[in-house]
Amino acid sequence: MQIQSIARVGDGVRLLDQTRLPTEVIYRELTDYRDVIVAIKRLEVRGAPAIGIAAAYALAMAAGQQSKYNREIFHQLAGEIKSARPTAVNLMWAIDRLVAKVEASKASSPETITSLLWKEAEVIHDEDRELCRRIGEYGASLINDGDIILTHCNTGALATGGIGTALGAIYTAHEQGKRIAVYADETRPLLQGARLTAWELQQAGIDVTLISDNMAGMLMKQKKISSCFVGADRIAKNGDAANKIGTYSVAVLAAHHNIPFYVAAPYSTFDDNTPDGAAIIIEERGAGEIINGFGRQTAPENVRVYNPAFDVTPFDLITGYITDRGIRPGGREPE
Ligand code: MRU
Repeated sequence: MQIQSIARVGDGVRLLDQTRLPTEVIYRELTDYRDVIVAIKRLEVRGAPAIGIAAAYALAMAAGQQSKYNREIFHQLAGEIKSARPTAVNLMWAIDRLVAKVEASKASSPETITSLLWKEAEVIHDEDRELCRRIGEYGASLINDGDIILTHCNTGALATGGIGTALGAIYTAHEQGKRIAVYADETRPLLQGARLTAWELQQAGIDVTLISDNMAGMLMKQKKISSCFVGADRIAKNGDAANKIGTYSVAVLAAHHNIPFYVAAPYSTFDDNTPDGAAIIIEERGAGEIINGFGRQTAPENVRVYNPAFDVTPFDLITGYITDRGIRPGGREPE
C-alpha cells in the first residue's frame, strides 16, 4: 500500500510526522493553520510538493478560522504561510494559486471563500498525484533492467501527494519488472535518505543500500552506479536546480565519472521568475541540527556552525529534467 504523507480530514489535515520515522509511524491531526506552519518549519511535513499541498490546506484552515472575510487579513495570512520555508517554490506557487482563485471569484462571504479554498487545495493535492504518475512514467523510460541508481534526500511518497518524483521513476521502473537496485545517500545533516528513503524503499520491496554521503564518489569510481536521480525544490529559468544540500557534490562527481544525472520535478517546481541559481534563497537552519542532531552531542557546544539546507546544481551539470510534460535535456553534454 502506498504511503500517504498528508490527507484532508474534515476541516483539518492528517500528517505523517516525518521527524519520527523510521522508528515510529505517527499521524498528527491539525486543525489550526499555525500548527501546519510549525509542522512545515519542523519538517514534520517536507519535500517541495508536500509542503505546497500542506500550505494550501493551511490557507483553507486559516480562512475558516476567520469570522468574516477581510482582504488585507487574508493576504497577511497567505504571506505568513508562504514564509514558513524559503527555498521550495511549490509553497509560494500553491499559495499564489489559491489567492488568485479567491480574487478571481470576487466572492466575499467567508463560507464561500473557505469552501473555494478547500476545493482548490484538494485539486492541487489530486493534481500532484497525477504529476507524480507522469514523472514516474517518463523517468522509468530512462531506467534499464539491471541499473543501479544513486539518489539523494527523499523524493518519494513522503515528499509528494503521489508516488514521488525521482523515487516515482524508480517505483515505476520496479513495477514494470525492471530489476533495479538503489543506493540511498544518508543525506546529512537531517538524514532524509536514511530515515525516509531507505524506509520507503524497503516498504516497497525495492533493493536499497544505504551509504553515507561521502561514499558516493568511490562507488562511482568502481563503476557501481548507472545513473543518479534526484528531485528539486526550485528550478530557475536557466535550469539551475536547488535541492537538498549535497546534491551539487553528487552532480560534480557524476559529471567527472560520466554518469547521467537527472533532476525530476513537476511544473510547480519550475520558477521562471527566478533567473538563475544565484537568485534562489537558500534556507539556513539551526546549529543544533549539526551539533546535537539526534539526541547526542557530536561537536563542541559552542563551535561555529554553517548549516545551509540546500545547494544549487548548475544546469551544465544536469543531463536532463524529468517533468510531468516529458524529458527536457539539461545543459550537460551527453556521454
Ligand atoms: O528539507 P527537505 O527535506 O524538505 O528537502 C527536500 C528535498 O530537498 C527534496 O529533494 C525536494 O524537495 C524534492 S521532493 C520531491
